[in-house]
Amino acid sequence: MTDFPVALSSAILNLSPYIPGKPIEEVERELGIRDASKLASNENPLGPSAKVVETLSGHLRRLHRYPDGSAFRLRSAVSNRLGVEGSRIVFGNGSNEIIVLLSELVLHPGDEVVFADPSFIVYPLVTQCAHAVPRRIPLREDVHDLEAFLQAVNKKTRLIFLCNPNNPTGTFLPLDRIRDFMQKLPINILVVLDEAYAEYVDDPDYAGSLELQAKHPNLAVLRTFSKVYGLAGLRIGYGVVHPTLAEAFQKVRQPFNVNSLALAAAEAALEDQEHVCKVLGLNRKMRSLLVEQLGRLGLKTAPSQANFVYCHVPDARRRYEKLLLGGVIVRPMGDKALRVTTGTEEETHRFLDRFRMIYGE
Ligand SMILES: Cc1ncc(COP(=O)(O)O)c(C=O)c1O
Repeated sequence: MTDFPVALSSAILNLSPYIPGKPIEEVERELGIRDASKLASNENPLGPSAKVVETLSGHLRRLHRYPDGSAFRLRSAVSNRLGVEGSRIVFGNGSNEIIVLLSELVLHPGDEVVFADPSFIVYPLVTQCAHAVPRRIPLREDVHDLEAFLQAVNKKTRLIFLCNPNNPTGTFLPLDRIRDFMQKLPINILVVLDEAYAEYVDDPDYAGSLELQAKHPNLAVLRTFSKVYGLAGLRIGYGVVHPTLAEAFQKVRQPFNVNSLALAAAEAALEDQEHVCKVLGLNRKMRSLLVEQLGRLGLKTAPSQANFVYCHVPDARRRYEKLLLGGVIVRPMGDKALRVTTGTEEETHRFLDRFRMIYGE
């Protein structure tokens, strides 16, 4: 084929694309096996609630209709649950879409965006797409270094991402630290507090970020239905933001950015808190098991409050490849760490068994 004749945006050409966890089907095809365990994308191993599945089957016959673009029913369900006005809630095709649109709303070329390193891989992507400049702040002992964040802030800073708990480490910032940070920060910088894993946190010092919004209108809090509610495949997340930002968001999103099945499923998922309790119970158990067993091998894990464990492992890439050959998919983080999502009991034990074998080699 002839060369593509139109020049692509220079910001896009320089991007390193998001590389998702290896799909289970691909690993199974390559290895000729049928039961690979995917512990690479922080998905919910129990899947959605049975009530969600039942609700969805009722909606399948109405797929010829466009979804409710205003998300009326889900908006009121989330509003009641969180105790925030519906006008402050925005919905996206995954919280990923909200990250993209909020960035587009505030960034101009040359603006600076501050975020931790390592953290969620989408922050540098949206920064570069907006022709803005990333300021990466290394974690300190696997935790956000807020002092260094403040030092990195200057007149060009327009946006800050705080990932809490942080992906890939699972470590969290207590509410007091975030409050203190917000007080020290100029008010004209948007802070996106990404709480994709909020529901998994047990520590009582975590909760309460929404209350900070009364005093800090520049704080946006994001959550998702992809994790504890097990709806990653449907793509739906939400943000609680200042009403003016919510109004601007409604102007830039596609009219039907969230599909009708996702809206119905999210509403049913919120109602089934019994399922959420089950998910959290399993996660707590598997997270402790991973930390304890990896510790026995002399390996250091970050203190995770999420549904994954970050383990410092020498030669991580080679070990990832070996685990893959055994049908266990985890996520290598550079060559010095592995991120392992909590699985079912069977999947988690399978990972530990395989890992013990290859670690001893
Ligand atoms: C920290 C963080 N934020 C946001 C997302 C995006 O989630 P979704 O777009 O599925 O809501 C993820 C997904 O893994 C994540 O880890």
